[in-house]
Amino acid sequence: MKLFDVYPINPINIIQGIGSLVYDSAGTEYLDLYGGHAVISIGHTNPHYVKRLEDQLHQIGFYSNSIEIPLQKQLAEKLGHVSGKEDYQLFLCNSGAEANENALKLASFYNGKKKVIAFSGAFHGRTSLAVAVTDNPKIVAPVNETDNVIFVSWNDELALEQAFAANEISSVIIEGIQGVGGIQVAPEGFLQKIRSLCDANNAVFIADSVQCGYGRTGKFFSHDFAGVNADIYTMAKGMGNGFPVGGIIISPKILPAYGMLGTTFGGNHLACAAGLAVLEVMDRDNLMKNAAEVGGYLITELKKFEKVKEVRGRGLMIGIELPAELAHVRKELLFTHHIFTGEAKPNVVRLLPALNLTKAHADRFLEAFATLVK
Ligand SMILES: Cc1ncc(COP(=O)(O)O)c(C=O)c1O
Repeated sequence: MKLFDVYPINPINIIQGIGSLVYDSAGTEYLDLYGGHAVISIGHTNPHYVKRLEDQLHQIGFYSNSIEIPLQKQLAEKLGHVSGKEDYQLFLCNSGAEANENALKLASFYNGKKKVIAFSGAFHGRTSLAVAVTDNPKIVAPVNETDNVIFVSWNDELALEQAFAANEISSVIIEGIQGVGGIQVAPEGFLQKIRSLCDANNAVFIADSVQCGYGRTGKFFSHDFAGVNADIYTMAKGMGNGFPVGGIIISPKILPAYGMLGTTFGGNHLACAAGLAVLEVMDRDNLMKNAAEVGGYLITELKKFEKVKEVRGRGLMIGIELPAELAHVRKELLFTHHIFTGEAKPNVVRLLPALNLTKAHADRFLEAFATLVK
């Protein structure tokens, strides 16, 4: 059997990782400023994480949601503490798309309405409703097409108000910082406008925090910079540091009912152990502060390069927009300087490293970058 060939692959076989460094099968060291799509939040093979997962494996790896799993309650408590959303409710699942799928569905159960507002440039995942609210027709199959989604231009308050006019909006879904869309920070006023329109129209504000959340920007949720709460926050990626864990946290105003949501794998023992280990390390090592400091340093230094068109982002979620003549930079970072970064169209280098990235590693990147954009 061969693999279903859907990914353009770099010819690199990574066999080991420690912190922000990874090593290929020939022993070459790479600096990882991408964390496999923003997933590695506390560093590769973090010792506390490895031990917690190993210990859990020796006890029990999985049982379904038909029994008590005290680890889930511990995770909810810790998450409430670290995120500051102590009165929210946690539902655990397995991926970002599944988190968004559940959030959109829950919103519709809550207010009985059908229409969803999403934004130009948005990416919310590849499952049916998640892909329908994603602004990329190429990945929407005919079966996913629906009249229930209204796309509004990014940061267009007037269009947003107009979309609400018919009072049939169930929810609004927005990333605090668009990731795939090229690291576009949602203006604080725009998030506040969404909050007030949702309040006025009994609609649910869904904060997609799959990529921009979990402490990456220096605050637990990047939407928090606007000083307003969303009704549902969706999470995945950094939540398990590589173990597939997703979840949504839900405002106390939305009440649960048996059978409303469900999953076989979500919230299993191993997933909870991974989730707890991540939060324990974040808390113990003050990683949100580190993300703000090292990220702030990188953004300041990157803005000094004349040839860079724009530097966008917050904390350790950074987009470096380059002119077309520097389109080769990302490839050279990888193959010449052995530094992993991400990309966004048309020509944005995306940095999404672990939250404990050191200043020394940031400098190693800046030096390599300088040789390429001089
Ligand atoms: C903002 C955002 N939402 C949702 C998703 C989908 O997450 P997953 O790939 O875990 O389904 C992603 C993935 O890149 C994302 O960036």
